Amino acid sequence: MNLSHAEIYFDSQAAIYNATRRHFLRGRESATALLGVEPGDRVADFACGTGLNFDWFYRAGASEVIGIDASSRMLDRAKRRYPDAHVLQGDIVTCSIEGEVQKVFCSYALSLIDDWEKAIENMVRSLSRDGRLAILDFGPMRGALRFSDPLFRWWIGIHGADPDRGYRAVLERFFRSVEVHLPKHGFAVTLIGDGLL
Ligand SMILES: C[S@@+](CC[C@H](N)C(=O)[O-])C[C@H]1O[C@@H](n2cnc3c(N)ncnc32)[C@H](O)[C@@H]1O
Repeated sequence: MNLSHAEIYFDSQAAIYNATRRHFLRGRESATALLGVEPGDRVADFACGTGLNFDWFYRAGASEVIGIDASSRMLDRAKRRYPDAHVLQGDIVTCSIEGEVQKVFCSYALSLIDDWEKAIENMVRSLSRDGRLAILDFGPMRGALRFSDPLFRWWIGIHGADPDRGYRAVLERFFRSVEVHLPKHGFAVTLIGDGLL
């Protein structure tokens, strides 16, 4: 999916996004816990959508939450719910953030984006040297529902998502430590990059 496609599609979804995706797009609580936001951290949520992750950042004591997204309507909803957040309309492949951030998060977006490797490179650029990055996204269906993997792939494929992207190899180019967390059940995968090389 390119930028203008994302903007048009998610502008059209903004009004129903939280109702239709909040419970389907799982793993936010554990992925944000693995990100390990500490009091005073600046946190950037790339392709933040309506801000469904922001609660966890604020609860952990983030001093500032910055959300970047292609869709102004998704951002309007984030801003309405979190007036203190800084939201910026832009392309996560090329945008730049003023100053460094200690934590970067990106959920359920890289699997959609054509230039996902460049988007990771761009996210890394905004991180402080001791910063940490977390990606939460689609992976193969596992556990009790693994039999439904072909159907699941077909369904998310219709929406332009690819569950087989090689995030780990790309993160290993930038971080000393890369962890992959695959819960036994479901499709969510979380990757944590820690300690910039
Ligand atoms: C499935 S939503 C995920 C939103 C949010 N991260 C979440 O977990 O609910 C994908 C988001 O990626 C955004 N997006 C897609 N391509 C983008 C790009 N190149 N730059 C910025 N945002 C993009 C869309 O506008 C949309 O809000």
